[in-house]
Amino acid sequence: MIKNYLAVVVLSSSVALFAQNQDIDPFAINNGEIPTKSEYSGSLFKFNYNYPKEYKKPENTPWSKVLNNKPLTKENAYDYIMALKKYVEPSMKTFILDQNTWNNSSQEGWYSMLWAGEDVSLTGWEGRESIYGTYTGQIQPASVYKDYGLTVPVRNYAAIYYDETAAYTLYKVFKNCNKSKNECIPLIQNNEAQFEEGAIIIKAASASATPEEWPLLEGAAKWQVYRKPFDLNGTINDKPTVVTDTRVTIFDIIVKDSIASPQTGWVFATFVYDKNAKGENAWEKMVPLGAMWGNDPKVNSAKNPKEELKETYINPNAPEYAKVTLGYGLRLSGPFDIAVKYNVKVDDTTVESLRSSSCLSCHGTSSFKLNDYNMITFFYPVKSIHNNIWDMYTPGNIQWNEWFQNRWGNIPQSQKKGVIALDYSTFLEQVLMNYAAKYSQDNKLNNAKFFEEWKRYKKESRKH
Ligand code: HEC
Repeated sequence: MIKNYLAVVVLSSSVALFAQNQDIDPFAINNGEIPTKSEYSGSLFKFNYNYPKEYKKPENTPWSKVLNNKPLTKENAYDYIMALKKYVEPSMKTFILDQNTWNNSSQEGWYSMLWAGEDVSLTGWEGRESIYGTYTGQIQPASVYKDYGLTVPVRNYAAIYYDETAAYTLYKVFKNCNKSKNECIPLIQNNEAQFEEGAIIIKAASASATPEEWPLLEGAAKWQVYRKPFDLNGTINDKPTVVTDTRVTIFDIIVKDSIASPQTGWVFATFVYDKNAKGENAWEKMVPLGAMWGNDPKVNSAKNPKEELKETYINPNAPEYAKVTLGYGLRLSGPFDIAVKYNVKVDDTTVESLRSSSCLSCHGTSSFKLNDYNMITFFYPVKSIHNNIWDMYTPGNIQWNEWFQNRWGNIPQSQKKGVIALDYSTFLEQVLMNYAAKYSQDNKLNNAKFFEEWKRYKKESRKH
């Protein structure tokens, strides 16, 4: 009798947990919020997930010519990343400068991600916005750029595209997806998530601040996005969604190139808007901030802050504002990547600002464990987060340094059994969690606490 009674209680509480059961559509184009014609009369974002079914190795690429068959160095890094920029220019220039023309164009050769269109309440994912397919990004207070004229909190909106070669990996991961059956179970167990040589992924992000609020954005390309207002705590959900003018501030290009980067397989490069740069338009004024192809594990920047990095190149002529947010030991990180954490705890003392990440450090944590929806490795070298206080590992110690190793994309940072590394793709990690959310709901797995934890950490990681 007692047993039965318990069973009933357990059952009804699990029903309650999933009362907000959400029907997530992996194929959704956007989050379902569409502006009226009077709010916005242009074209909307197109969702291309018709991924290529074959891998054609790109030959004689302009960036590899810079290398002369040798690994990348700080000496040729500038030429290398300019070759990448030039290579993507025919399509990406339109994408950056002219929203409506891009939305109306064929966008040939560029693809977007499944499982990312709709909001997912369990993971806190805010979906893809309908005008330009952007995702909500981090929010920074004006104080981060107080010396560079920012007067209001700034949020960024990021658009992400995969080229032909990179999208072949999405094909492998989503090979079993079937829209007519509304089924989309990702495959990652047999190295499907590893990218092929020559894969290029781009991410551009625009800032919510206007040039009046942040004068260094004068002349930057304008994108309209359809989003709710925000404050320092995130999106204000009870306010209406509005067409919002934003200004393109950063443009990232990452490329899989094992000649340039024999230890990690990737080169991560970022360009930033510089209103004082030479150039006819905002595309030409996107100047290299730098590139990185490794975490310089041999350089202990906490112990030897003056020791020179060999696997990060920073352009000496990049605008100063973009260097405020460089990462650990000045490893590469961009203006919106939140590599610098403020008011954190290190060995029981509060540190006002700490350079704690880098492009490859954060992306290198990307991993997933099937049927176990715990977060595997957090983006940052953090021991714990309590009451919004981040307790960091001691910079330069053994644990901290785990975040600054060089690993091949199929080697996870975590030593836990069964963990699958996702080849530096943080976006894929996010959408696997979105998939896991739906799977858990549909199968009543009763594991909401894992998602609560993920959501809490993810939210923390998006604050300055
Ligand atoms: C502290 C973490 C962090 C740092 C540092 C960081 N990123 Fe990311 N990046 C992310 C996350 C998380 C996403 C996925 C999108 C999302 O969840 O909003 C992402 C997405 C991307 C994407 C889209 C494809 C993918 O892999 O997810 C590119 C390209 C990218 N970042 C480039 C860079 C570059 C270049 C740098 C350094 C200049 C950088 N990132 C620094 C966390 C980071």
